[in-house]
Amino acid sequence: MKEVKVCLIGSGRAGMIHGHNFAGSVPGGRIIAVCDPLKTVAEEAAKELGIDLFYQDYKEVLKNSEVDAVIIACPTKFHKEIAVAAAEAGKHIFCEKPMAMDETECDEMIEAARKHKVKLQIGFMRRFDESFQEAKKMIEAGEIGEIVSVKSHTRGPSKPKEWMYDISVSNGPLGEVCSHDIDTVRWFTGSEISSLYAVGGNYRNKEIAEQYPDFYDNVIMSVEFENGMQGVVEGAQYVQYGYDARVEILGTEGVISLGDIHEKKVITCTKHHQVKRPTMHSWTYLFKDAYVAEDTAFVKAILEDTEVKATGYDGKMAVRIVKIGNESLKEKKVRDLS
Ligand SMILES: NC(=O)c1ccc[n+]([C@@H]2O[C@H](COP(=O)([O-])OP(=O)(O)OC[C@H]3O[C@@H](n4cnc5c(N)ncnc54)[C@H](O)[C@@H]3O)[C@@H](O)[C@H]2O)c1
Repeated sequence: MKEVKVCLIGSGRAGMIHGHNFAGSVPGGRIIAVCDPLKTVAEEAAKELGIDLFYQDYKEVLKNSEVDAVIIACPTKFHKEIAVAAAEAGKHIFCEKPMAMDETECDEMIEAARKHKVKLQIGFMRRFDESFQEAKKMIEAGEIGEIVSVKSHTRGPSKPKEWMYDISVSNGPLGEVCSHDIDTVRWFTGSEISSLYAVGGNYRNKEIAEQYPDFYDNVIMSVEFENGMQGVVEGAQYVQYGYDARVEILGTEGVISLGDIHEKKVITCTKHHQVKRPTMHSWTYLFKDAYVAEDTAFVKAILEDTEVKATGYDGKMAVRIVKIGNESLKEKKVRDLS
């Protein structure tokens, strides 16, 4: 194979980032079709990406022998069904995070990809971010001594979508918001979580508290790793001030800070003795290059037949921690995972 031809399945917010990447920024990869059950959405997406082919049913996509790989970016509850069918049709799979709804679904996806010898990469694009990669190198070079703790938080500006209020459907902010943070603390410590305790509450969406008593929009989860390191994962929705994703890695001999709440370098000072500097407004901007890098790495893994850098196992471990974190939060109990 000289070129990887992809079809995007789910052309919403995350999907169109990949769509645009594969329309011109990914060497060796090219988008040839999109699929979305909503005809106008699929048609518009194809037009925007400069292609003619669009589908409304993913099963039709899988019959197209021209398609080498699928990018699954539809709601999480459909990931497993589409990924397993794609593997059975011999298509390589890039699947957005969260990988699936629970560990059993993740296992089915991993097994299908293994059995049909296709790649399965999960959308943990932070691993491909230049600063994250630099931090990983610093850690490995011993620049901050031994790691003591990793703290990772993600705070989003927007009001949660209605379907997110039902935790049994959305897995809550731990799933939708903190999957990346969970992956980040695992990646930097190089270890698995052995115990955790989560606290959460609804602070900014009180009008729906009666209808959805289990919903939380703020969560803090303390974790301990098998190798003795410590971690904190924090997630917040509807913070309004901007998109805020930062990480701190504390070592025995130093500290590494990652992330920036400023979007631009320009600083304006006014006659009212005020300093103004715009905050980061969106994940699409903060991780723009990382999305291109993860798509490029996916194509490279297919063309060179190498292991992907964010595996099905990584996706599964994040889903596992989300589930156990939600249980800890509800039961107000420390959970021992060892
Ligand atoms: N990596 C990241 O940083 C990141 C960011 C945002 C979202 N996501 C993930 O991406 C996925 C999509 O989220 P989003 O925010 O883009 O959602 P979205 O609602 O903006 O878009 C989802 C699209 O999927 C379509 N769709 C629904 N059912 C489908 C089906 N069965 N087959 C094909 N398409 C279908 C919808 O019509 C919609 O156009 C979720 O799993 C989400 O958690 C990841």
